[in-house]
Amino acid sequence: MQSLQHKASEWSGVLTSNAFAIDDTNLFEKLGLQTFISLSTNFYNRVYDDEEEWFHLIFANSDKQIAIQNQYEFLVQRMGGPPLYSQRRGHPALIARHRAFPVTHEAAERWLHHMQQAVDTSSDIDDDSKIKLMNFFRHTAYFIVAGIELKNQNFQMPCKNAPSPCKNF
Ligand code: HEM
Repeated sequence: MQSLQHKASEWSGVLTSNAFAIDDTNLFEKLGLQTFISLSTNFYNRVYDDEEEWFHLIFANSDKQIAIQNQYEFLVQRMGGPPLYSQRRGHPALIARHRAFPVTHEAAERWLHHMQQAVDTSSDIDDDSKIKLMNFFRHTAYFIVAGIELKNQNFQMPCKNAPSPCKNF
């Protein structure tokens, strides 16, 4: 896990300590439930309306309202609020839950672009919390990218010394 955090820091440019500065204060108590609902709604409105087809197609099989609920319940929980996400969905397991999607560096940047806009246009979030949230998002996005790359590499390992053609079933 240490090396994934290393990779996440290297690729995101955010030190792990800065990513976890969200834990210095209870952001759920500071910002409130409605702020996280609005942020997630604002974010997913941008994602589903994205003019970049390759990006919004990643979400084509996901129901928008459910995606919003998944996101705000996760954020509420992670930012020090009640464990709404785990009560309904279980452990967040972000890498495993993203494995079905093409979470590349390019996709991470597009995801972050929409989140940056959603955060910037939220008048309920003070400047210090905006910085903390974006550092967390940036680091976590690349943590997911690194985790998926690693899993895919391991998945391909059996083919390394096998006679060709080799298929990964
Ligand atoms: C790096 C680029 C990312 C892409 C392309 C991506 C894509 C997706 C997609 C397609 C879904 C399915 C929608 C749904 O049904 O909920 C999803 C779910 C989710 N994502 Fe991401 N995501 C990214 C980054 C992140 C980050 C940085 C976080 C957290 C800070 C995050 C948290 C979640 C959560 C909590 C869910 C719900 C998982 C579930 O309950 O099944 N994602 N994401």
